[in-house]
Amino acid sequence: MNAPATNAIDWNAVRADFPLLAREVNGKPLVYLDSANTSQKPAAVIETVDDFFRRHNANVSRAVHTLGSEATEAYEGARRTLAAFLGVRSDELVLCSGTTFAINLVAYSWALPRLKPGDAILLSRMEHHANIVPWQLVAQRTGATIKVAELHQDGTLDLDALHAAMTPEVKLLGITHVSNVLGTINPIAAICREARKRGIVTVVDGSQAAPHMPLDIPSLGCDFYAITGHKMCGPTGTGALWARREHLEAMPPFLGGGEMIKEVRFDGTVFNDPPHRFEAGTPNIAGHIGLGAAVDFLSSLGMQDIAAREHALLTHATEQLLKIDGLRIIGTAPEKAAVISFLVDGAHAHDLATLLDLEGVAVRSGHHCAHPLMQFYGVPATCRASFAFYNTHDEVDAFVAALRKVRRLLG
Ligand SMILES: Cc1ncc(COP(=O)(O)O)c(C=O)c1O
Repeated sequence: MNAPATNAIDWNAVRADFPLLAREVNGKPLVYLDSANTSQKPAAVIETVDDFFRRHNANVSRAVHTLGSEATEAYEGARRTLAAFLGVRSDELVLCSGTTFAINLVAYSWALPRLKPGDAILLSRMEHHANIVPWQLVAQRTGATIKVAELHQDGTLDLDALHAAMTPEVKLLGITHVSNVLGTINPIAAICREARKRGIVTVVDGSQAAPHMPLDIPSLGCDFYAITGHKMCGPTGTGALWARREHLEAMPPFLGGGEMIKEVRFDGTVFNDPPHRFEAGTPNIAGHIGLGAAVDFLSSLGMQDIAAREHALLTHATEQLLKIDGLRIIGTAPEKAAVISFLVDGAHAHDLATLLDLEGVAVRSGHHCAHPLMQFYGVPATCRASFAFYNTHDEVDAFVAALRKVRRLLG
């Protein structure tokens, strides 16, 4: 993203809000470059969760006592905060454990009852397993088939091929907003417009978009949008599925249990209204209240400024890395989030990541839950450095220096 910064933010002060970033690893200052895997948490989130357990802990939507009301108000307040952040109505937002749950909810409640033999599900080559495997499970049970839209070598979607693949038997398109491996930002609004013209329902994986750019989900024109809280400075086990109200109204529940009902009799149960219909059992109350605090934190910085800051880090890191002989970046789309997957001639990705860790640098190595993408590039694994607004240019330089050292060690 090329968004210009609109405020003068003291990013060093912002970074100081993240207690973990002050620690050392293997005797070196930590350089945390694995935010696409999970983000670090600011003190505001840690303190909010701590305060909930110390002062307000109770179950939600059940008890009339004061603590029960406080917990319910805080939990529903977090839903409203998150909804405002995403530009959606809070009664269209199902809180859940993250993107994996959110996509499975669509698979089991929307797709399973509807799809039949002869139908097809269209996916892109760059999907995370969380947006592949649930559809394979649905396909096995319904007789539908899976179609794949391919990429260009730079990691952009082949849009002509994608649109050509939107044939009449395709009922659903599963597509990521931002690739967790390539960083590619897909033109989701244009893709959803094409899908909608053909009556294809769209399920967008927003895991890597929500933490890094301003979002207004309605303007994307999708049917479903999934996010995961731990990548956006919130606690693990939090997230949400946004769905158009008409889908939520028409969908049967995925899980049955407490709080998703209005009345239970042995001869039949009346389900609660959405979104509570899809939130059976005691939810991750503290986690979602913490996610609300995370969203407040991100909003106080401004997503436009976060995007600009991360773009500057991406540009600097890309320039520095390309000076290293034998280093190849996988994913060079013009529209990219701050994720750099790379390979170094003669070095295995795991060896690089292990030796970088000895230098205090945390990067991820492996297939990044994207086997089909690895197959496309003909590699078993890549190293991935992923940046967040709390990283610094000095850290980029420390990472590149460590990589040069590791490279020499590996011969
Ligand atoms: C693009 C993408 N989709 C889905 C997921 C799964 O998220 P979660 O494990 O939080 O459900 C991830 C996490 O790495 C991701 O990067």
